[in-house]
Amino acid sequence: MMIQRPRRLRVTQSIRDMTSETRLSPSMLVYPVFVREGKNIIEDIPAMPGQKRYSPDTLPVILERAVKNRIGGVLLFGIPEHKDAEGSSAWREDGVIQTALRTAKKEFPSLTLIADVCLCEYTSHGHCGLLKGETVDNDSTLEILARTALSQAQAGADIVAPSDMMDGHTHAIREALDAEGMTDTLIMSYAVKYASAFYGPFREAAGSAPSFGDRKTYQMNPRNVREAVKEALLDVSEGSDIIIVKPGMPYLDVLKTVKNAVNVPVASYCVSGEYSMIKAACANGWLNEKNVAGESAICLARGGADIIITYYALELSEWIKEGSL
Ligand code: PBG
Repeated sequence: MMIQRPRRLRVTQSIRDMTSETRLSPSMLVYPVFVREGKNIIEDIPAMPGQKRYSPDTLPVILERAVKNRIGGVLLFGIPEHKDAEGSSAWREDGVIQTALRTAKKEFPSLTLIADVCLCEYTSHGHCGLLKGETVDNDSTLEILARTALSQAQAGADIVAPSDMMDGHTHAIREALDAEGMTDTLIMSYAVKYASAFYGPFREAAGSAPSFGDRKTYQMNPRNVREAVKEALLDVSEGSDIIIVKPGMPYLDVLKTVKNAVNVPVASYCVSGEYSMIKAACANGWLNEKNVAGESAICLARGGADIIITYYALELSEWIKEGSL
């Protein structure tokens, strides 16, 4: 019988790198950016230190860094001046996101532009869809979402990313895009989005907190994982090209399960609360930022993420290129 030798190999860094099961590359990283209506604005977001809101005219400052680092793409969130019950600023041809997309496409034609499709930043009540009484009405919202996605595609979005969690959103958007000849626009849908407390800082950044109630009727229950598979398969069958699982680190089991269930690329969204927790601990000197942000991205990749949407995308790509990650 073979006697097992106790493992006492001490490998070099180069062998460690060569034999790694998981690798990170800038091309798998997507950087979320907040764009607000107005001119000449670059402002801090207090709950997300290091992140800023840009107006469409100052946006090139940050997009240039994204292009230089060759990241996979940017995900744009719009913050309008005017909000109403229907979220009508979401689909205006001269809306904030449409203007930003046109500028970005013209200045950086090689950069992949992803547009968030949702109404919560645009509605006066802060919910992700149209209200009937105090509840969100799924079916009448679909038409508005489709109109919004179409206007974004026409303004230059390569990918539209519906984050509203209405049932049937992918189908409605695909039909609207195809009917207008936008057949090459991809849909990256938030098929698996939990009603999570980790979105807190984002709602401050985007001014999108609901004015009453919560999103538990349309976002998922953190206790469920089979439901995630159901939602993901449904979205794929409706035509989603990429599936998002959100949040990131606390939902690694969901990520892995969904990854094994679908045959399209899966993106993990490492959300605002995850970012701000790392930032806060590092500001206190309790954690090392590069090591912790790097490890959390590696863990998401190991957990099955083909794409990682993260507020650390620019720093991560710089650390990868330096060889320190
Ligand atoms: C809009 C939307 C949210 C996030 C992305 N799109 C907030 C929410 O659902 O309340 C959260 C992203 C983050 O926390 O980084 N529906």
